[in-house]
Amino acid sequence: MANIKKQALVIGAGTGGYPCAIRLGQLGVDTMLVEKDKPGGVCLNWGCIPSKALISASKLYEKAQHATDMGIEFSAPKVDMSKMQSWKAGIVKKLTGGVQSLVKTNGSTYVTGTATILGPNKVRIDYPDGKESDTVEAQHIVVATGSVPIAIPGFEIDQKRIVDSTGALDLDRVPESMVCIGGGIIGLELGQTFQRLGTKLTVLEGADRILGACDADLAKVVHKQIEADGGRILTKAMAKGWEERNGKAVVKAAVGDQIEEIEAEVVLVAVGRRPVTKGFGLENTKVAVSDRGFIEVDKQKRTNVPSIYAVGDVVGQPMLAHKASHEGEVLAEVIAGHNAVDDARTIPNVVFTEPEIASAGLGEQEAKDAGYEIQIGKFPFSVSGRAMAISETKGFVKVITDKKDNRVLGIHIVGPEASDLISEGALAIEMGAFAEDLSLTVHPHPTLGEAVMEAAKHAIGEAIHVPNRRR
Ligand code: NAI
Repeated sequence: MANIKKQALVIGAGTGGYPCAIRLGQLGVDTMLVEKDKPGGVCLNWGCIPSKALISASKLYEKAQHATDMGIEFSAPKVDMSKMQSWKAGIVKKLTGGVQSLVKTNGSTYVTGTATILGPNKVRIDYPDGKESDTVEAQHIVVATGSVPIAIPGFEIDQKRIVDSTGALDLDRVPESMVCIGGGIIGLELGQTFQRLGTKLTVLEGADRILGACDADLAKVVHKQIEADGGRILTKAMAKGWEERNGKAVVKAAVGDQIEEIEAEVVLVAVGRRPVTKGFGLENTKVAVSDRGFIEVDKQKRTNVPSIYAVGDVVGQPMLAHKASHEGEVLAEVIAGHNAVDDARTIPNVVFTEPEIASAGLGEQEAKDAGYEIQIGKFPFSVSGRAMAISETKGFVKVITDKKDNRVLGIHIVGPEASDLISEGALAIEMGAFAEDLSLTVHPHPTLGEAVMEAAKHAIGEAIHVPNRRR
C-alpha cells in the first residue's frame, strides 16, 4: 500500500468535482481526482447530456411530421430507437473522454477508484482491478459525491418495467404507454420525449400542479401542451403500488379520494433526488449534515471540519450541473488561497420540456413574498416574427421588476429556445440591471431575443409591438 501525498483530493468526477480539479490544476495546487464510476457523473452519463440528445432527436421527429405546414412534403419519418441510442452514446463517450484529458492537461491526476475518508486528512483508495489499495494524505479534501434518485415504496426499480431516469434514457424501444410518477423536471422532460415518439403518457403528480419549482404561469403552458398531445395529467395523485397484468404494469393511484388503475408498458419513477453522504467514510469525520441530509457548507464551501469542503448536489438545492460547476470553481480558488466566495445572485433554472421553460431571479409569488411591489412586462411569442418563421409561437417572456426603481427581479421564459435566451436574464440580474438596460440594449432583428427586450419595455409601459397597460 503506497502512501501518496497531495495538496488536494477531490472525491467525485461529476460536474462539481471535475471543474474543481481542473481549476485546482490551473492554480498550481497538486490535486488528485478520484471517481469510482465513469468520468462526468450523472450529468454527462445518465442525465443532462443523454437526455438532451434524445429530446432533440424526438423534437426533430415531431417537427418532421408537421413540416407539411411549411410546404415540405416527405414520407412519414420512422424511429430506429437502437440507432438513436448509439448516436446518443457517441455524444456521451466524446464528452466523458474529454473530462479525463482536460483534468490531465491542466496538471491534476485522474484516478479510477473508490475513495473512503479515514480521517480529516486521510483517504483510502480501492481500485476496481484488484490492485493493492493506496492511502492519500491530503491537506484539503473536496466531497463532490452528487445525488441519487429517491425510491418510493412498492416501486422497486428493475430498469425494465419500473425505471428511473437512467433506465428511461436507455430504453431500446418506444414503449406504447408510460406512467410517470412525479410531474417534476425529470418526469416531464423524459415523459414528453417518449410522448413525441408516440408513447401514450400519463403523469401522476402528488401536488396540486406540475413543475412546482417553476412559476405557475409557465407550468400551465407545458400542462396544456402535454394534454394537447394526448397525454393525461393527474394531480393530487399518489402512486400506491402496481401489479403485472396481461404483460403490462397496472399502477394503482389515489387521485383525490378515488383509486384509479392505469395500465402502462413502462413506469418511470421521478420523485426527486437525494444527496449521497453515505458509503465513503464521511462518518469517520465530524462533518455536519443537515436534517434534510445535505452537507452543510458556508459561502466558501467549507464544512465545519477545516480540511474538508463540499460542492454540488450534496450541499443542497438546486441540484443543477451549472450550480455544481460554479461552486467547484469558486472552491478551487478558496483552496488556492484566493479571497473567493460563492455570491451568485441567481442560478438560472432550465427545463427542457415542450415548450422549454427557463427562469432567472425571483418568481412572481416569491417577489411578492419578499415584500416587493412588482410590475410585470410580458411579450408573447405568438407576435414574434422570428417565432412565426420557425413555426414555434407558443409561450411568452415575463419580466418582473421592482415598481420602485424598475430593477429587474426575475425573468421567466416559456417558449422556443428559452434555455438559451435565459442567459441574458441571468446576466441582467447578476449585474443588477434595470428594465431600461434591457429595453435600451439594441437587440438584433429578427430574433427570439427581441422578446426579452419587448417584455422589459412592456414592464415600464414602453412596448412597441404589444399594447401597453394603462398606467
Ligand atoms: P422534482 O423535484 O423536479 O420533481 C419531483 C415531483 O414528484 C414533484 O413535483 C413532487 O411533488 C412529485 N412527487 C413526489 N413524490 C411523489 C409521489 N409519491 N407520487 C406522485 N408525485 C410525487 O424531481 P425530479 O424530476 O426527480 O428531478 C430531480 C432533480 O434533478 C431536480 O430537482 C433538478 O434539480 C435536477 N434536474 C434538472 C434538470 C434540468 O435542469 N433541466 C433536468 C433533470 C433533473
